[in-house]
Amino acid sequence: MNEKKIAAEHAVDYIEDGMIVGLGTGSTVAFMLNKLSQRVKSGLNITAVSTSAATTKLATSLGIKILMLSEVDEIDLTIDGADEVDENLNGIKGGGGALLYEKIIASNSKKNIWIVDSTKLVKTLGNFPLPIEVVQFGSTHLCVKLESKGYKPTFRQIGATRFITDNNNYIVDLRIEKIEDPVGLDIKLKKFAGVVETGLFCNVVDIVIAGIGNKVEVINKKKREQT
Ligand code: A5P
Repeated sequence: MNEKKIAAEHAVDYIEDGMIVGLGTGSTVAFMLNKLSQRVKSGLNITAVSTSAATTKLATSLGIKILMLSEVDEIDLTIDGADEVDENLNGIKGGGGALLYEKIIASNSKKNIWIVDSTKLVKTLGNFPLPIEVVQFGSTHLCVKLESKGYKPTFRQIGATRFITDNNNYIVDLRIEKIEDPVGLDIKLKKFAGVVETGLFCNVVDIVIAGIGNKVEVINKKKREQT
């Protein structure tokens, strides 16, 4: 059973007619978009906004019309992936490099759902390298500072060239391994001049939908339930 697919398809049930929906980025979201497009083709009426050029392209190709964030009011529900989720439902995002727009969309959403496979559920964040988005100007100097603080930064590459985000910035991946205080680390990292945003998403998500084997586990702050 594809855990990403079953989690993604389950999440589509939370989308109701007339909603303004935020669409995340990544391979799990791609499964969600495929299912959502079937519902749209069968008459579901939604307004959608996107967290990346890649998602806009895929959604549009599937017949889901995308509006700009500035064209809509508050988003009712955003469905996105995540790279790691801890027991307090804080997460690391940005494996696909879309963390800045993902955080902006999430912070303008009344409700956020993350869709993940079982490998993403962890006790403590940090095994997955923490992505941060940084402006290009001064980024080498910034990495020297991050290195001196023990964050082990590396510029994300695609082959021989640096990865460039939709907002024309770089992604730097930090190897921290155990993030005991994600809220504090997020604040600390944002104090470095040139850091635009971090992939730490703390107190953002309302519901995590995880594919675990052939079951879906719905996790919120209060209770866990299996379907
Ligand atoms: C995109 O920048 C990320 O935040 C993704 O949501 C995250 O990396 C999950 O990706 P997959 O669904 O491809 O695992």
